[in-house]
Amino acid sequence: MRARATHLLTRSLTAVSLWWTNAVVYQIYPRSFADSNGDGIGDLAGIESKLDYLVDLGVDVLWLSPIYRSPQDDNGYDISDYRDIDPMFGTLADFDRLLAAVHERGMKLIMDLVVNHTSDEHPWFMESRSSPDNPKRDWYWWRTGRDDGPPNNWGSIFSGSAWEYDDLTGEYYLHLFTKKQPDLNWENPQVRQAVYDLMNWWLDRGVDGFRMDVINLISKHATLPDGQQAPGELYGDGSPYYSEGPRVHEFLQEMHRAVFADRDAELLTVGETPGVSVEQARLYTDRDRHELDMVFQFEHVELDHGLGKWDVRSLNLVELKENLAKWQYGLARVGWNSLYWNNHDQPRVVSRYGDDRNYWYESATLLATVLHLLRGTPYIYQGEELGMTNYPFASIEQFQDVESLNYYRQAVDGMGLDPRLVMSSLQAMGRDNARTPVQWDDSAHAGFTTGTPWLPVNPNYPRINAAAEVADPESVFAYYRSLIALRHADPVVRDGDFELLLPADPDLFVFTRTAEGVRLLVAANVGDDPVESPVDLHGDLVITNYREPVGQVLRPWEVRVHRQEVTS
Ligand code: GLC
Ligand code: CA
Repeated sequence: MRARATHLLTRSLTAVSLWWTNAVVYQIYPRSFADSNGDGIGDLAGIESKLDYLVDLGVDVLWLSPIYRSPQDDNGYDISDYRDIDPMFGTLADFDRLLAAVHERGMKLIMDLVVNHTSDEHPWFMESRSSPDNPKRDWYWWRTGRDDGPPNNWGSIFSGSAWEYDDLTGEYYLHLFTKKQPDLNWENPQVRQAVYDLMNWWLDRGVDGFRMDVINLISKHATLPDGQQAPGELYGDGSPYYSEGPRVHEFLQEMHRAVFADRDAELLTVGETPGVSVEQARLYTDRDRHELDMVFQFEHVELDHGLGKWDVRSLNLVELKENLAKWQYGLARVGWNSLYWNNHDQPRVVSRYGDDRNYWYESATLLATVLHLLRGTPYIYQGEELGMTNYPFASIEQFQDVESLNYYRQAVDGMGLDPRLVMSSLQAMGRDNARTPVQWDDSAHAGFTTGTPWLPVNPNYPRINAAAEVADPESVFAYYRSLIALRHADPVVRDGDFELLLPADPDLFVFTRTAEGVRLLVAANVGDDPVESPVDLHGDLVITNYREPVGQVLRPWEVRVHRQEVTS
């Protein structure tokens, strides 16, 4: 009965050509991908030079982290001109050439759309700041202070107050991220129109969609009430008043009408939505509501957080399975899942949820398998396909990321925490772990640049690099290539109904995907000791990370995928 329902759903999905249900997306963080001119920073020409590598891997869509003109306070997530390329990355002509080269190879390219906030150096903000009667004053959130302090108690997501006092007019402006990232006021219809205009400008130029940065934060409760403030905390939690705000769905539906509705191109929209619940995600991705194709939820990458992201605890496999299954069941009939372990904000998964010391290959490939065989669209973050690991950071001077640096200052100077404790949090969770240059070969700086890289290359590059792995049929890269090919070849990977088996088993992650008389059985041993599987492991072996299977025993970090006929 359930298989039949899927079948019907699948037909209606393909009827409107939801091509991205069968696609794999590859995220490029341009600054760290490939440097063509020796200035130590990756660029558009560098990306172009590696396109055949991406074709070889088999991915369908490239998502570029921001390349617009930017003061780079938050590595491009602070934009000062939405219609130009930052000179560090190249020019609009370079961009057009790259886009054409991507399309020639049958791939698509989506842009990062950062419109919850702009840079404080964007002309909109400079005008807004200039005087209380400026026509753009209301494009941002300006408020007078309260009792010699900020207008409310909200803390910034990047530490400190969410408000910055501006001498020029004696008022404060809201910034949920750094003070160089003032929040746009989406209540103002001119702001919304300006955003839709720039989106149309890029789509007219030929891009294939957008990844929308923190798009669930664009609607604020206009009265900006204080958030709850726990004893000992420096700031209140404003998120109930800015996350999933009252008008967010209305704004996205308006955006859809203004930007997407009249285009017949094959586009993709994915919203980054930290803190989103399954219920909210269903609203964002319900086809009938015309909002987004899919969203990035965060629950599975917060299971190792205690009181916030810097309070690191170990992952509990049962919780991970329960959580992923909740999302699988929750978006099975309405909406669609995006699937990811990594991006430019998360530590490397093989170091985080795998074992990068003793079972580097096995755990990297196991994690890839369980993710790619869930129902949804998988995202690969650059270097993940090589099994790149966290960087062995030894001192605070080695970090560049504004989030890490701000947190260190607040924790050590503001809260008096032991610097060693703070460093251990940064080593585990700091975003620079994901931002070290891609390891292309075993030459100096891993072939990323002929100059000095902006962030050092991981010292393990002589062992972990693309040149070595592309040539090796038993590499992490070769394994990712096979997984992607499997998705493209077998419709059950896209369509199959998900079912979690052995939910309480502390070592095994076992699930099935079933559609049209076929079942994939995915069985993974998430740990260092061999385990006998209580589920019968039979049927053609479709993919595995060990050479020969041994009966019912799964060795450390072994994963097997069996294809079985289902007789009803
Ligand atoms: C998103 C981005 C992150 C950025 C933040 C502010 O979470 O992924 O890199 O710092 O938004 O734009
Ligand atoms: Ca460069």
